[in-house]
Amino acid sequence: MKINNKHLLTLLDYSPEEISTLLSLAKQLKKEKKEGISHQVLKGKNIVLLFEKDSTRTRCAFEVAGYDLGMNVTYIGSSGSQMGKKESIKDTARVLGRMFDGIEYRGFKQETVECLAKYSGVPVWNGLTDKFHPTQILADFLTIQEYKGDLKGLKFAYLGDGRYNMGNSYMVGSAKMGLDFRMVGPKELWPSKELREQCEKIAKTTGAKLTFTENVDEGVKDVDVVATDVWVSMGEPDSVWKERIELLKKYQVNSLLMSKAKKDAIFLHCLPSFHNLETKIGMEVYEKYGLNGLEVTEDVFEGKQSVVFDEAENRLHTIKAVIYATMVND
Ligand code: CP
Ligand code: NVA
Repeated sequence: MKINNKHLLTLLDYSPEEISTLLSLAKQLKKEKKEGISHQVLKGKNIVLLFEKDSTRTRCAFEVAGYDLGMNVTYIGSSGSQMGKKESIKDTARVLGRMFDGIEYRGFKQETVECLAKYSGVPVWNGLTDKFHPTQILADFLTIQEYKGDLKGLKFAYLGDGRYNMGNSYMVGSAKMGLDFRMVGPKELWPSKELREQCEKIAKTTGAKLTFTENVDEGVKDVDVVATDVWVSMGEPDSVWKERIELLKKYQVNSLLMSKAKKDAIFLHCLPSFHNLETKIGMEVYEKYGLNGLEVTEDVFEGKQSVVFDEAENRLHTIKAVIYATMVND
């Protein structure tokens, strides 16, 4: 299957077969890495990572994947380049496209990553925008496959803010891969009507089922996978915390909620996560609102059903698969 020279801006642009190919490739690359088999097939190529927002996993996964494939990697953070300040995205895209063989972008607007893709002339990968986080979904799906096997028909509940990058992307990925997906949260935080309708159409062709509910019992009953995300995302103002806590506190993933899922359900979180008081923001929220775990409690996060660090590791293998598939000409 030919994926080379294709951008990865959103999984909406990928067929179920292409997603399956990426997941199989990730599995193979993971095995090779564990066995010490080198796969430096992109020696001499150069890629640039543009980060307007912070990152641990995505940045490190792109860097290590790049090095494992034999490439040279340049990192540009939120300051220190001309991009978006003295130089338009369109001009930046054309400059970077003359120097690099691939571009990763993490930032705010989906339009920015689309503009880079349109004008750079090289593969562009979305490392998270406000709207989508496609590489995260690939890592989550690889993790689910490792624990549960075939994705098709699996019952998957996402709890929390559904209209941001993770909620949107889980819905898109589930529609593409035929899952029984439940968006569990307050109506005002469900994905946009337009995106929901687009996913319903896809679901009709793949056998996926999409449910939107405010009712935790209905949403989580007998699911194989429970997932959540932070209640306030990067780029949102601190002033939304109060309202968001009010809206989402009954959707916190705690042991009572997990007991409604299947006994052997797994828990996923893209991370970073607020599950105790060991972070600056976690402590600030505790002092203001008295909650010492937010979207997930410490016992669930640290419990047997939690596979969040496998999921984090799989960022590396899936991102490597994306770079490999979009850049290697075979
Ligand atoms: N999950 C994820 O994207 O993590 P980072 O923000 O650390 O990249
Ligand atoms: N929704 C989160 C995901 C972080 C990986 C955010 O955008 O901050």
